[in-house]
Amino acid sequence: MRKKIVAGNWKMNKTFTEADDLLFEIKEIISENPINGVELVVCPPAPFLELATDVAEEVDIHVGAQNVSSFSKGAYTGEISAEMLESIEVEYCIVGHSERRKFFGETNADVAKKVEQLLEFSITPIVCCGENLEEREAGNHFDVVRNHIEEGLFHLNEIEIQQVVIAYEPVWAIGTGKNATSEQAQEMHSYIRKLLLEKYGNEVAESISILYGGSCNAKNAFQLFANIDVDGGLIGGASLKAAEFIEIANSF
Ligand code: 13P
Repeated sequence: MRKKIVAGNWKMNKTFTEADDLLFEIKEIISENPINGVELVVCPPAPFLELATDVAEEVDIHVGAQNVSSFSKGAYTGEISAEMLESIEVEYCIVGHSERRKFFGETNADVAKKVEQLLEFSITPIVCCGENLEEREAGNHFDVVRNHIEEGLFHLNEIEIQQVVIAYEPVWAIGTGKNATSEQAQEMHSYIRKLLLEKYGNEVAESISILYGGSCNAKNAFQLFANIDVDGGLIGGASLKAAEFIEIANSF
C-alpha cells in the first residue's frame, strides 16, 4: 500500500530561534498524540536541517530539504549536494517546485538530474508539477503536467520511479488562499496515475504517493485527502504553525 504523507515546505521562512521553537512545538504535540499511519515530513531551510534531524531522533518525524544540487560535488559555490544531505540524515527533498522553476530557472532537465542525484543517496525526491493560471484557463493543464512528469521522471526505471513521491501543485493555488477543488485535485491526480500506469504498469502506478499542494489547510485538507488518488499534502503557509500542520496530518 502506498504511503500517506504530509510534508511541510517552510520555504524561506523562520530564523534559527523561530525554527527551533516550531520544531519544539511539533515535537510536543506529537509526543502527546502520535499521528497514526501518516508520514510527517518537515522541510525547513537548509541551515536548520540539522535542528530538524535532531528532533527526528526523538519523535516520529522525517526531514526533507527544499532543494539539492544537480551536481555531485566540487567547485559549485553555494550548492548543496545529495551526499551532504544524506550525511545529516535528510530523507526527503523537494525538487522542481514552481518557485524554483520561476525564480531560478529550474527546468525539467535539471529536475531529472536532481532526482538522479537524490536516488543515488537513497533520498526520496518529492517532485513537483503543476500548471499556472494561464495554462489552466487555456485548457493546457494536462499537457503541462504530462510534460513535467515525462521530462522530469520518465528516464527512471521501474525500481527507481517507486522511490519517488509526486506533488501536484497548481501554481494558481500556491499562497493564494484559493485551493484546487476536491474534484480538480482528484482529476489531475488520477491523470498522473494514468501516465504512470501507461509507462510502468498498474502495480508501480498504484505504489506511488501523489500529494496535493496549494493553499491546503486544516479546513480543506479532509476533503482533499478523501480522494482516492490524493495520498497527502505538500503544505506551505499552514505548515508554519505547529497545531495547524498536525491537524492537517490528522485529516485522513
Ligand atoms: P501554500 O500552502 O502556502 O499555498 O504553498 C504550497 C506550496 O507551495 C508547498 O510547496
